[in-house]
Amino acid sequence: MKKILITSAVVLTFVACGGSGTENKEAAEQKSATSEAAEATSPTDNPDYEKGLVLVAKPENLCLTCHKIDEKVIGPAYRDVANKYEATEANIKMLAEKVVKGGSGVWGDVAMPPNAVVNIADAEQMVKYILLLKNK
Ligand code: HEC
Repeated sequence: MKKILITSAVVLTFVACGGSGTENKEAAEQKSATSEAAEATSPTDNPDYEKGLVLVAKPENLCLTCHKIDEKVIGPAYRDVANKYEATEANIKMLAEKVVKGGSGVWGDVAMPPNAVVNIADAEQMVKYILLLKNK
């Protein structure tokens, strides 16, 4: 009788350990699935992308008459702008100010005229979108 008790205790211990081992493995699998998901998120999933794109594409803001994403038109390609600047708060503020007040001397001989219909908050949102186009 005693022997049986000991055996079942051993079996129980074994089962308990086996059980928690499986849980750990599941937790680890879940964790790696989460980090894979994080890696798979693209810049277009960032809410700033959609919000800025909507503003840039508004016809009355005129941005797309002078800028394209991948081609220089009158102004530089947005992708080139994105690759030139880190998306720091200081750069976003500086570029947003240029969008509103105009800018010159960075991309060539043509200046960007002031975009007076754009307020600074919208301009910052547009710049956040533009800087998400970085591919280098
Ligand atoms: C009339 C044409 C024109 C319009 C309209 C225009 N841009 Fe520009 N943009 C330019 C030119 C030209 C430059 C390059 C200026 C320079 O070399 O400093 C430029 C530069 C920029 C830059 C980079 C600034 C820098 O210093 O690197 C950003 C960002 C930008 N434009 C965003 C916008 C946004 C957003 C809009 C719409 C609100 C807009 N632009 C409308 C012509 C335009």
